[in-house]
Amino acid sequence: MEQHLYSRIANQMQQHIREGIYKAEDKLPSVRALAKQQQASVSTILAAYGLLEDWGVIEVRPKSGYYVRRNLSKAPEAPSIIQTTNTPEEVSTPDLVMEVIRDSSSPDLISFGAAVPADDFPVINQLKRIFSQKVRTEPFIGIGYDSGKGSDPLRRQLARRAIDAGILVSPEDIVISEGCQAAVGLCLRALSKPGDIVAVETPSYYGLLQLIEALGLKAIEIPSNAEHGMSIEALKLAFEQWPINIVLSIPCFSNPVGALMPDENKQALLDLIYQYDVPLIEDDIYGDLGYGSQRPKALKAFDSKGQVLLCSSVSKTLEPQLGIGWVMPGKYFKLIEYQKFLSSTGSFRLPQMAVAEFLAGGGYDRHLRLAREAYRQRRDRLADLISLHFPEGTRMSSPQGGFVAWIQLPKGIASTKLYKQAREHHILIAPGEIFSSDPKKYPHSIRISYANSWTTEREDAIQTLGQLAKQQITMSSP
Ligand SMILES: Cc1ncc(COP(=O)(O)O)c(C=O)c1O
Repeated sequence: MEQHLYSRIANQMQQHIREGIYKAEDKLPSVRALAKQQQASVSTILAAYGLLEDWGVIEVRPKSGYYVRRNLSKAPEAPSIIQTTNTPEEVSTPDLVMEVIRDSSSPDLISFGAAVPADDFPVINQLKRIFSQKVRTEPFIGIGYDSGKGSDPLRRQLARRAIDAGILVSPEDIVISEGCQAAVGLCLRALSKPGDIVAVETPSYYGLLQLIEALGLKAIEIPSNAEHGMSIEALKLAFEQWPINIVLSIPCFSNPVGALMPDENKQALLDLIYQYDVPLIEDDIYGDLGYGSQRPKALKAFDSKGQVLLCSSVSKTLEPQLGIGWVMPGKYFKLIEYQKFLSSTGSFRLPQMAVAEFLAGGGYDRHLRLAREAYRQRRDRLADLISLHFPEGTRMSSPQGGFVAWIQLPKGIASTKLYKQAREHHILIAPGEIFSSDPKKYPHSIRISYANSWTTEREDAIQTLGQLAKQQITMSSP
C-alpha cells in the first residue's frame, strides 16, 4: 500500500513539473511539508523523492533540499511526418515484417517491438477464473456450429459498450471475427477487387499494409500529423487525383503514431467519403485506451449513412490470445456476414463466452481505468528516457491513448541499422521501414511499444538504444 503511495506521489510531482508548476531549478516542498500536504509519512516522501531522483527529474542539494534539475530535459518535440504527394503503390512484402513478428514472442529479447498489452494487470487472472468456471458450467463443445455471426451474449455486450464510443448498433448488426486484423481482412475482401486503390494514413500499421498487398490492392499513403492523424486536405487532393475505392484509417490513437483525429476532422472525412461514395474501414482497436476522462467518439458515431465499417478486437485491451475481434459493418452487413462464412465456418465459443461475462461485470471498466493511467505514466517515462539518453534532435510523438510511440531520430541515424544493432544486444524495436509501402520513406524512425512497466532492465535497454544511436552519429561524422 505504502509502496503504491510513494510512486503515486512521485508521478503526481512529475506531472506538476511537466505542467510547469515547478520549473527547472525551482526548490521543491520540504519533505515534512509534502508529508503533511499528502498526509503521508516522511519515509514515503523520501521514497517518492528518491524515485524522482532516479528518473533524473530532480536533484538533492546538500543542506538545501530538493530541486528540479537544472538541465531537465524537455519532452521531445513531435515528429514531422513526410508531407509529399504520393502515388498509389503496390506494397512490398519486406521480410523484415516477418522477422519482427517472429522475434516478438521471443522470451530472450527485451521487447519494445510488438504492440502487446502489459503483462502486469490483474485482468489475466480474472479472465482465467472466468474461463475455468465456464468450462465447468457451460456446454462449450458438442453444440455444433454457431450462428456464424458469433455468440449472442458477446454481441449484446459489444452493442452496449459501443454506446461509450457514441455508436448505436443492434447486436444483430455485429459480426464476430478472430481479431481486428481478420476483421479488416473480411472488409477488404468483401469490398474490393485486385488493383483497387485503398487510401491509408502514413505511417501505418504494417499488418494493414500487408493485407492490402496480399489482396493485390494498391495503397495510396495519405500524410498524417502526429497529433491529429490523417490529413483531410491531403485526402481531398488524393480523391481529386485518383479513383480511390476504400479509405482505411485508425482515427483513435493510430498505430504507430498514437494520433487522435479531432471530431471536426472525423466529420470532414465522412463528408468526403459520402461525396465520393466509398466505404471507410475504421480500425478502432485502441479506442478504449484513451488517457482522457472521456472515451473519444468513434468515427462511426458520426456516420448517418452506414458507410463506415468499424473493426476492433480485445487484443490491445485484454489479450491477443483470446482471438476475438468484430466488425460493425453498417450497410455492408450481408457482405461481411458472407465473407465470415467463407473464411471460417465455426469458431471456438469458450473465449467468446468468457469475454461476454467479463464485459457484463464491472471488471472491464475497472481494468480500463487502471490500464489507461498506467499507459499514460509509462508514456511519460518513455519521453523522459528518450530525452535523457537519445541524441539531441530526437523527436517523439505524444500519444493520448494506446501504448505505441513514433520516434524520429536525427538524420545521421539509420533506423534499420539501429534495429539490427539493438537485436545483437537482445533488444527488439520496430524499424520505420515496415510502416510504409515505400521502405525508404521512414529511414530515421522507429516505433516503441511502451506497454510494459519500467523495470531497471527495460530502462537500461532504452539507454543502450540511445548509446547505439549516438555511436552511429559519431561514426558517420567526418
Ligand atoms: C492498428 C491495429 N490494427 C489491428 C491490429 C491487429 O489486431 P488483432 O491482433 O486483433 O488481429 C493491430 C495489432 O498490432 C493494430 O495495431
